[in-house]
Amino acid sequence: TFPKRVKIVEVGPRDGLQNEKNIVPTPVKIKLIDMLSEAGLPVIEATSFVSPKWVPQMADHSEVLKGIQKFPGINYPVLTPNMKGFQEAVSAGAKEVSIFGAASELFTRKNVNCSIDESFQRFDGIMQAAQAASIPVRGYVSCALGCPYEGKVSPAKVAEVAKKLYSMGCYEISLGDTIGVGTPGLMKDMLTAVMREVPVAALAVHCHDTYGQALANTLVALQMGVSVVDSSVAGLGGCPYAKGASGNLATEDLVYMLTGLGIQTGVNLQKLLEAGDFICQALNRKTSSKVAQATCKL
Ligand code: HMG
Ligand code: MG
Repeated sequence: TFPKRVKIVEVGPRDGLQNEKNIVPTPVKIKLIDMLSEAGLPVIEATSFVSPKWVPQMADHSEVLKGIQKFPGINYPVLTPNMKGFQEAVSAGAKEVSIFGAASELFTRKNVNCSIDESFQRFDGIMQAAQAASIPVRGYVSCALGCPYEGKVSPAKVAEVAKKLYSMGCYEISLGDTIGVGTPGLMKDMLTAVMREVPVAALAVHCHDTYGQALANTLVALQMGVSVVDSSVAGLGGCPYAKGASGNLATEDLVYMLTGLGIQTGVNLQKLLEAGDFICQALNRKTSSKVAQATCKL
Protein backbone atom coordinates (compact mmCIF):
# COMPACT_ATOMS: atom_id res chain seq x y z
CA THR A 1 0.00 0.00 0.00
CA PHE A 2 1.15 3.50 -0.84
CA PRO A 3 1.47 6.39 1.61
CA LYS A 4 -1.42 8.89 1.44
CA ARG A 5 0.93 11.81 1.29
CA VAL A 6 4.51 12.15 0.10
CA LYS A 7 6.96 14.84 1.17
CA ILE A 8 9.06 15.91 -1.80
CA VAL A 9 12.54 17.23 -1.04
CA GLU A 10 13.51 19.45 -3.98
CA VAL A 11 17.27 19.24 -4.48
CA GLY A 12 17.54 21.10 -7.81
CA PRO A 13 19.17 24.29 -6.51
CA ARG A 14 21.91 22.20 -4.84
CA ASP A 15 22.33 18.80 -6.51
CA GLY A 16 20.94 20.17 -9.76
CA LEU A 17 23.34 23.06 -10.04
CA GLN A 18 26.50 21.86 -8.24
CA ASN A 19 27.75 20.03 -11.32
CA GLU A 20 27.18 22.89 -13.80
CA LYS A 21 30.48 24.03 -15.29
CA ASN A 22 29.45 27.61 -16.00
CA ILE A 23 28.81 29.60 -12.86
CA VAL A 24 25.10 30.32 -12.60
CA PRO A 25 24.51 33.93 -11.49
CA THR A 26 23.37 34.22 -7.88
CA PRO A 27 20.13 36.09 -8.79
CA VAL A 28 19.17 33.18 -11.08
CA LYS A 29 19.62 30.71 -8.22
CA ILE A 30 17.57 32.92 -5.93
CA LYS A 31 14.77 33.31 -8.48
CA LEU A 32 14.72 29.53 -9.05
CA ILE A 33 14.30 28.86 -5.32
CA ASP A 34 11.60 31.51 -5.02
CA MET A 35 9.70 29.94 -7.94
CA LEU A 36 10.01 26.50 -6.32
CA SER A 37 8.64 27.97 -3.09
CA GLU A 38 5.73 29.42 -5.09
CA ALA A 39 5.10 25.95 -6.51
CA GLY A 40 4.56 24.61 -3.00
CA LEU A 41 7.56 22.35 -2.49
CA PRO A 42 7.75 21.76 1.29
CA VAL A 43 11.54 21.32 1.40
CA ILE A 44 14.02 23.01 -0.92
CA GLU A 45 17.70 22.18 -0.51
CA ALA A 46 19.10 25.61 -1.23
CA THR A 47 22.87 25.29 -1.52
CA SER A 48 25.92 23.73 0.12
CA PHE A 49 28.56 25.14 2.40
CA VAL A 50 31.38 23.10 0.91
CA SER A 51 34.82 24.26 -0.12
CA PRO A 52 34.69 26.61 -3.15
CA LYS A 53 37.92 24.99 -4.34
CA TRP A 54 36.10 21.70 -4.56
CA VAL A 55 32.75 22.92 -5.86
CA PRO A 56 33.09 26.46 -7.28
CA GLN A 57 29.41 26.57 -8.26
CA MET A 58 28.35 26.66 -4.59
CA ALA A 59 30.74 29.48 -3.61
CA ASP A 60 27.85 31.97 -3.35
CA HIS A 61 26.08 29.85 -0.70
CA SER A 62 25.68 32.64 1.86
CA GLU A 63 24.31 35.15 -0.67
CA VAL A 64 21.84 32.56 -1.96
CA LEU A 65 20.61 31.60 1.48
CA LYS A 66 20.27 35.21 2.59
CA GLY A 67 18.68 36.31 -0.69
CA ILE A 68 15.80 33.86 -0.99
CA GLN A 69 12.29 34.50 0.25
CA LYS A 70 11.63 32.28 3.25
CA PHE A 71 8.08 31.05 2.87
CA PRO A 72 6.39 30.05 6.14
CA GLY A 73 6.21 26.27 6.44
CA ILE A 74 8.96 25.63 3.89
CA ASN A 75 12.37 24.34 4.98
CA TYR A 76 15.56 25.37 3.19
CA PRO A 77 18.25 22.91 4.32
CA VAL A 78 21.87 23.19 3.16
CA LEU A 79 24.74 20.70 2.96
CA THR A 80 27.51 21.02 5.53
CA PRO A 81 30.58 18.73 5.24
CA ASN A 82 32.41 19.95 8.37
CA MET A 83 32.33 22.46 11.24
CA LYS A 84 33.54 25.30 9.05
CA GLY A 85 30.63 24.75 6.68
CA PHE A 86 28.22 24.36 9.58
CA GLN A 87 29.29 27.62 11.21
CA GLU A 88 29.07 29.55 7.95
CA ALA A 89 25.66 28.06 7.25
CA VAL A 90 24.34 29.10 10.63
CA SER A 91 25.78 32.61 10.20
CA ALA A 92 23.95 32.86 6.88
CA GLY A 93 20.69 31.90 8.60
CA ALA A 94 20.39 28.15 7.98
CA LYS A 95 17.64 26.58 10.10
CA GLU A 96 18.38 23.03 8.96
CA VAL A 97 21.50 21.26 7.65
CA SER A 98 22.39 17.99 5.97
CA ILE A 99 25.47 15.89 6.53
CA PHE A 100 26.51 13.57 3.74
CA GLY A 101 28.12 10.20 4.24
CA ALA A 102 28.51 7.24 1.93
CA ALA A 103 28.52 3.47 2.03
CA SER A 104 31.76 3.37 0.03
CA GLU A 105 35.31 4.12 1.27
CA LEU A 106 36.63 5.20 -2.11
CA PHE A 107 33.72 7.50 -2.87
CA THR A 108 34.06 9.09 0.57
CA ARG A 109 37.74 9.71 -0.11
CA LYS A 110 37.06 11.31 -3.51
CA ASN A 111 34.06 13.31 -2.34
CA VAL A 112 35.17 14.64 1.05
CA ASN A 113 38.84 13.63 1.23
CA CYS A 114 38.67 11.31 4.24
CA SER A 115 37.68 7.79 5.31
CA ILE A 116 34.17 6.80 6.38
CA ASP A 117 35.34 6.72 10.02
CA GLU A 118 36.86 10.20 9.75
CA SER A 119 33.68 11.48 8.12
CA PHE A 120 31.77 10.29 11.19
CA GLN A 121 34.16 12.14 13.48
CA ARG A 122 33.30 15.32 11.57
CA PHE A 123 29.60 14.49 11.82
CA ASP A 124 29.91 14.10 15.62
CA GLY A 125 31.09 17.68 15.93
CA ILE A 126 28.40 19.02 13.62
CA MET A 127 25.74 17.00 15.43
CA GLN A 128 26.70 18.38 18.84
CA ALA A 129 26.75 21.95 17.59
CA ALA A 130 23.45 21.45 15.77
CA GLN A 131 21.76 19.95 18.81
CA ALA A 132 22.98 22.83 20.98
CA ALA A 133 21.46 25.26 18.45
CA SER A 134 18.25 23.17 17.97
CA ILE A 135 19.02 22.74 14.27
CA PRO A 136 17.59 19.55 12.75
CA VAL A 137 20.06 17.46 10.79
CA ARG A 138 19.32 15.27 7.79
CA GLY A 139 21.76 12.53 6.80
CA TYR A 140 22.64 11.24 3.35
CA VAL A 141 24.03 7.82 2.47
CA SER A 142 25.57 7.99 -0.99
CA CYS A 143 26.35 4.98 -3.16
CA ALA A 144 23.38 3.12 -1.67
CA LEU A 145 22.89 1.13 -4.89
CA GLY A 146 26.40 1.22 -6.32
CA CYS A 147 29.65 3.14 -6.32
CA PRO A 148 31.55 4.68 -9.24
CA TYR A 149 34.84 3.46 -7.73
CA GLU A 150 33.97 0.25 -5.88
CA GLY A 151 31.12 -1.09 -8.01
CA LYS A 152 28.64 -3.18 -6.01
CA VAL A 153 27.78 -1.97 -2.52
CA SER A 154 26.27 -4.43 -0.05
CA PRO A 155 22.87 -3.64 1.50
CA ALA A 156 24.46 -4.49 4.87
CA LYS A 157 26.99 -1.67 4.48
CA VAL A 158 24.25 0.81 3.54
CA ALA A 159 22.22 -0.32 6.57
CA GLU A 160 25.25 0.10 8.84
CA VAL A 161 25.94 3.68 7.71
CA ALA A 162 22.23 4.59 7.78
CA LYS A 163 21.90 3.22 11.31
CA LYS A 164 24.91 5.21 12.50
CA LEU A 165 23.50 8.45 11.09
CA TYR A 166 20.10 7.75 12.63
CA SER A 167 21.57 6.77 16.01
CA MET A 168 23.59 9.95 16.20
CA GLY A 169 20.43 12.01 15.79
CA CYS A 170 19.65 12.59 12.12
CA TYR A 171 15.87 12.89 11.91
CA GLU A 172 15.79 11.61 8.32
CA ILE A 173 18.13 9.46 6.25
CA SER A 174 18.20 9.92 2.50
CA LEU A 175 19.45 6.88 0.61
CA GLY A 176 21.20 8.04 -2.54
CA ASP A 177 21.65 6.15 -5.76
CA THR A 178 24.41 8.60 -6.58
CA ILE A 179 25.21 7.27 -10.04
CA GLY A 180 21.75 6.00 -10.96
CA VAL A 181 22.73 2.38 -11.55
CA GLY A 182 20.15 0.71 -9.30
CA THR A 183 17.18 -1.32 -10.45
CA PRO A 184 13.97 -2.05 -8.53
CA GLY A 185 15.27 -5.41 -7.27
CA LEU A 186 18.37 -3.79 -5.80
CA MET A 187 16.26 -1.04 -4.25
CA LYS A 188 14.04 -3.65 -2.60
CA ASP A 189 16.99 -5.59 -1.17
CA MET A 190 18.74 -2.46 0.05
CA LEU A 191 15.60 -1.04 1.68
CA THR A 192 14.79 -4.38 3.29
CA ALA A 193 18.20 -4.29 4.99
CA VAL A 194 17.98 -0.63 6.00
CA MET A 195 14.40 -0.94 7.34
CA ARG A 196 15.65 -3.48 9.90
CA GLU A 197 17.80 -0.72 11.41
CA VAL A 198 15.94 2.54 10.76
CA PRO A 199 12.15 3.11 10.96
CA VAL A 200 10.73 3.58 7.47
CA ALA A 201 9.11 6.86 8.52
CA ALA A 202 12.64 8.29 8.83
CA LEU A 203 13.78 7.16 5.38
CA ALA A 204 13.94 9.00 2.08
CA VAL A 205 15.12 7.89 -1.34
CA HIS A 206 17.28 9.99 -3.66
CA CYS A 207 17.49 8.48 -7.13
CA HIS A 208 19.59 9.67 -10.01
CA ASP A 209 18.30 8.70 -13.44
CA THR A 210 21.46 7.75 -15.34
CA TYR A 211 20.05 4.40 -16.44
CA GLY A 212 16.43 5.56 -16.60
CA GLN A 213 15.47 3.67 -13.44
CA ALA A 214 14.81 6.53 -11.02
CA LEU A 215 11.02 6.57 -11.25
CA ALA A 216 10.77 2.76 -11.08
CA ASN A 217 13.14 2.61 -8.11
CA THR A 218 11.20 5.33 -6.34
CA LEU A 219 7.92 3.52 -6.95
CA VAL A 220 9.30 0.40 -5.26
CA ALA A 221 10.36 2.50 -2.27
CA LEU A 222 6.85 3.99 -2.04
CA GLN A 223 5.36 0.51 -2.12
CA MET A 224 7.62 -0.41 0.78
CA GLY A 225 6.32 2.51 2.83
CA VAL A 226 8.85 5.27 2.15
CA SER A 227 7.03 8.62 2.08
CA VAL A 228 9.86 11.10 1.50
CA VAL A 229 11.36 11.42 -1.98
CA ASP A 230 14.19 13.64 -3.21
CA SER A 231 13.96 14.97 -6.76
CA SER A 232 15.21 17.80 -8.89
CA VAL A 233 13.29 20.24 -11.06
CA ALA A 234 13.85 19.54 -14.78
CA GLY A 235 15.86 16.47 -13.74
CA LEU A 236 18.99 18.54 -13.24
CA GLY A 237 21.80 17.14 -11.19
CA GLY A 238 24.93 15.13 -10.74
CA CYS A 239 27.83 14.88 -8.39
CA PRO A 240 31.22 16.29 -9.44
CA TYR A 241 32.88 13.30 -7.78
CA ALA A 242 30.73 10.72 -9.57
CA LYS A 243 31.69 11.19 -13.20
CA GLY A 244 29.07 10.24 -15.77
CA ALA A 245 26.20 10.31 -13.31
CA SER A 246 23.22 12.16 -14.70
CA GLY A 247 20.53 14.20 -13.03
CA ASN A 248 18.09 13.30 -10.30
CA LEU A 249 14.59 12.02 -10.82
CA ALA A 250 12.70 15.01 -12.29
CA THR A 251 10.31 16.56 -9.78
CA GLU A 252 7.73 17.16 -12.52
CA ASP A 253 7.68 13.44 -13.36
CA LEU A 254 7.45 12.49 -9.70
CA VAL A 255 4.54 14.88 -9.08
CA TYR A 256 2.73 13.60 -12.17
CA MET A 257 3.06 9.99 -11.04
CA LEU A 258 2.06 10.70 -7.45
CA THR A 259 -0.98 12.70 -8.58
CA GLY A 260 -1.98 9.79 -10.79
CA LEU A 261 -1.73 7.48 -7.78
CA GLY A 262 -3.94 9.81 -5.72
CA ILE A 263 -1.03 10.66 -3.42
CA GLN A 264 -0.96 14.23 -2.11
CA THR A 265 2.14 16.40 -2.40
CA GLY A 266 0.86 19.96 -2.10
CA VAL A 267 2.81 20.85 -5.24
CA ASN A 268 1.30 22.90 -8.06
CA LEU A 269 2.52 21.15 -11.23
CA GLN A 270 1.92 24.17 -13.47
CA LYS A 271 4.07 26.44 -11.32
CA LEU A 272 6.69 23.72 -11.03
CA LEU A 273 6.84 23.47 -14.82
CA GLU A 274 7.35 27.24 -14.98
CA ALA A 275 10.29 26.95 -12.57
CA GLY A 276 11.72 24.19 -14.76
CA ASP A 277 11.32 26.33 -17.90
CA PHE A 278 13.00 29.23 -16.17
CA ILE A 279 16.11 27.31 -15.10
CA CYS A 280 16.44 25.46 -18.42
CA GLN A 281 16.36 28.76 -20.28
CA ALA A 282 18.93 30.22 -17.90
CA LEU A 283 21.21 27.21 -18.43
CA ASN A 284 20.44 27.07 -22.14
CA ARG A 285 19.53 23.44 -21.76
CA LYS A 286 16.70 21.10 -22.65
CA THR A 287 14.70 19.76 -19.72
CA SER A 288 15.23 16.14 -18.68
CA SER A 289 11.66 15.91 -17.39
CA LYS A 290 9.45 13.77 -19.63
CA VAL A 291 6.38 15.54 -18.31
CA ALA A 292 7.84 18.94 -19.19
CA GLN A 293 8.72 17.69 -22.67
CA ALA A 294 5.21 16.32 -23.14
CA THR A 295 3.63 19.54 -21.94
CA CYS A 296 5.64 21.56 -24.45
CA LYS A 297 3.95 19.65 -27.27
CA LEU A 298 0.38 20.26 -26.11
P1 HMG B 1 39.94 19.30 2.31
O1 HMG B 1 40.72 19.92 1.21
O2 HMG B 1 40.37 17.95 2.80
O3 HMG B 1 39.70 20.30 3.52
O4 HMG B 1 38.43 19.18 1.79
P2 HMG B 1 40.66 20.92 4.60
O5 HMG B 1 39.91 20.88 5.88
O6 HMG B 1 42.02 20.30 4.52
O7 HMG B 1 40.73 22.44 4.10
C1 HMG B 1 41.36 22.81 2.89
C2 HMG B 1 40.93 24.21 2.49
O8 HMG B 1 39.50 24.25 2.28
C3 HMG B 1 41.19 25.24 3.57
O9 HMG B 1 41.41 26.48 2.87
C4 HMG B 1 39.87 25.33 4.29
O10 HMG B 1 39.68 26.55 4.94
C5 HMG B 1 38.88 25.16 3.16
P3 HMG B 1 42.90 27.02 2.58
O11 HMG B 1 43.55 27.06 3.93
O12 HMG B 1 43.53 26.00 1.64
O13 HMG B 1 42.64 28.34 1.95
N1 HMG B 1 37.60 24.62 3.62
C6 HMG B 1 36.41 25.19 3.38
N2 HMG B 1 36.05 26.31 2.75
C7 HMG B 1 34.75 26.61 2.70
N3 HMG B 1 33.77 25.84 3.24
C8 HMG B 1 34.09 24.73 3.91
C9 HMG B 1 35.46 24.36 3.99
N4 HMG B 1 36.10 23.34 4.57
C10 HMG B 1 37.40 23.50 4.33
N5 HMG B 1 33.12 23.98 4.45
C11 HMG B 1 36.06 19.17 2.17
C12 HMG B 1 37.41 18.64 2.60
C13 HMG B 1 35.01 18.35 2.85
C14 HMG B 1 35.96 20.63 2.58
C15 HMG B 1 35.96 19.07 0.63
O14 HMG B 1 36.28 17.77 0.26
C16 HMG B 1 34.60 19.42 0.10
O15 HMG B 1 34.17 20.56 0.17
N6 HMG B 1 33.88 18.43 -0.47
C17 HMG B 1 32.53 18.65 -0.94
C18 HMG B 1 32.23 17.76 -2.10
C19 HMG B 1 30.80 17.98 -2.55
O16 HMG B 1 30.23 19.02 -2.35
N7 HMG B 1 30.23 16.95 -3.19
C20 HMG B 1 28.90 17.03 -3.69
C21 HMG B 1 27.86 16.86 -2.62
S1 HMG B 1 27.54 15.16 -2.18
C22 HMG B 1 26.41 14.61 -3.39
O17 HMG B 1 26.18 15.28 -4.36
C23 HMG B 1 25.66 13.34 -3.16
C24 HMG B 1 24.21 13.57 -2.71
O18 HMG B 1 23.48 14.28 -3.69
C25 HMG B 1 23.51 12.23 -2.47
C26 HMG B 1 23.66 11.24 -3.62
O19 HMG B 1 23.33 11.58 -4.77
O20 HMG B 1 24.06 10.11 -3.31
C27 HMG B 1 24.16 14.37 -1.41
MG1 MG C 1 22.61 13.43 -5.49
